[in-house]
Formats: sequence, structure tokens, C-alpha cells
Amino acid sequence: MSANPFLDPALVHGDLYRSDSRLADRTHALHRAKISGNDVAETIADLLASRVPLGAAVLDIGCGRGTTTLRLADRLRPRRLVAIDASAALLHATRDRLGHARARRSVVCADFHQLPMPDDVADAAVAAFCLYHSATPELAIAEIARCLHPGGTAVLVTKSLNSYAELDHLVHAAGLDPDAISRSSLYESFHSGNLHTVAATNLTVIDVQHEEHLFHFADATHLARYLITTPKYRITLTGGIPALAAALRQRLSAPPYTTRSTVSYAVAVRP
Ligand SMILES: C[S@@+](CC[C@H](N)C(=O)[O-])C[C@H]1O[C@@H](n2cnc3c(N)ncnc32)[C@H](O)[C@@H]1O
Repeated sequence: MSANPFLDPALVHGDLYRSDSRLADRTHALHRAKISGNDVAETIADLLASRVPLGAAVLDIGCGRGTTTLRLADRLRPRRLVAIDASAALLHATRDRLGHARARRSVVCADFHQLPMPDDVADAAVAAFCLYHSATPELAIAEIARCLHPGGTAVLVTKSLNSYAELDHLVHAAGLDPDAISRSSLYESFHSGNLHTVAATNLTVIDVQHEEHLFHFADATHLARYLITTPKYRITLTGGIPALAAALRQRLSAPPYTTRSTVSYAVAVRP
């Protein structure tokens, strides 16, 4: 097992994304806490809207529950939209959420290191918050480049190494995980700081943008709902969210609990 849970294939292709509930709970808790920062799916659509024509063929790689896929379907009106993920459960959720818009959409279960697509098939490709699950993200980017037409656009999205670091300190201060502050970042393989360099291994980088997102968890239950979804910590307390919330309430100063993350976007083209 890798020391970094996000780079542990057994976890990533096992418990982490075996069902869509952990990702849905995490996203819900984060969205409720967010007090600044633009909507990521909307930003991706904005970045692509000016670069791809209506009727384009678009890939959403590591689509998860399909939040970005849905926005791309609405905003770009692609001729073909393919959502790709290694998790059958998450693809199922994406397909359900695409609903009536499914006609020209498809979902494909595949590893992003080996995309089951011909060369030169897409006008645009998105890989949001997924390449940090690879110890070799440049190999996935080579696959993305291979699938794009020459001149086709990729939008790659990740987070800063220090994302949510304030929560490491809270978990440590609450005595829930003594190693919380010394563990490496979940995003160590692909993050705001190496995004440009890794993207440039196989693509021509046009632009990189960074935006800070700020989160206020209103109370201990809200924070517990988020913490329980992150594989970073080894919290041995039993009793689920109520027990975790009670421990946070007892051991930490009064809420809100604040944390931040930088979200970074690279726009890159296949030369
Ligand atoms: C945090 S979710 C990203 C969700 C989505 N892109 C979004 O922005 O909402 C990470 C996704 O990457 C997928 N993933 C991880 N490793 C993968 C791999 N080797 N090939 C394809 N998908 C992978 C997971 O199954 C999961 O759905």
C-alpha cells in the first residue's frame, strides 16, 4: 500500500470510489462550506467555450459523478460527449444524471493511462481532480494528447499541495490523529505547483490560472461530515459522524472552522 491513500491503487480502485456516496457526501459538505471561489464546472465550461466550436467531440476523463460532464453537455452542446472513469459505480451515477441528454453521450469504463479511443478523436478533453490519483500523471497526459486532434484543447484541473492544511491542524489538535500534520499531501503527484510542468510533457500550455477557495464549516457536525470522507486521516474513534462531532465540539475552540484550497486550471493544446 502507498503511504499516500490517493496513490494507492487498491484504495482508489476499491473502497474510495466503489460507490458514489463518499464522493457525493464530500462534495456536498465542501459546497455547503464554500464561501468564496467560482464554480469549477462552470469555469471549465467557460475556458472551453471560447476554444471549441459547437458540435465538438469532448472527453471528460475521470468524470466521477458527472458534475462537469453535465455542465459540458449544457454549455458546449457537443456532437459527442464521452465520460470516462475507472469506477463503474460513478459512471452509473453519471449516466443517470445525464438523463434525457443521454442520446449523444456515452460512458466508458477505462483507466486514463490507456484510453480505449482512437488517435485524433476529440476537439477537447477535460481531466478535473483526477490525475492526482496517478503516480505518473504525464502518462495520462500523453494519452489525452494522443486522443486530441492537433490543435485540440485540454483543460486540466487540480489543487494546491497545501489544500485543507488547516484541517490537519484541527484533527491533530483534537487528538484524533497524531500524524495528521506530518502526512504528505493527497495531491503530491499532480498539484498547482507542478501542473504546468507535467502538462507541458505532452501538450503546449497556453494558460495556467489559480484561484483560492475558502471554506467555513459552520459547526462540528458539518466538519465531521467532511472529515469522515477524507482518507488522509487515521481516525480510530468509533460511532461515526455523531461521535466525531462530539469529540470536535469538546476538544476544539468554537466554530466556524476555516480552511482553504487553491484550485488550478491549465489550458493546453495538442501541438
Ligand atoms: C475526485 S473524482 C473527480 C470527479 C470529477 N472529475 C469532478 O471534477 O467532479 C476522481 C475520479 O478519478 C477516477 N479515477 C481515479 N483513477 C483513475 C484511473 N486510473 N483511470 C480513470 N479514472 C480514475 C475516480 O474513479 C474518480 O471518479
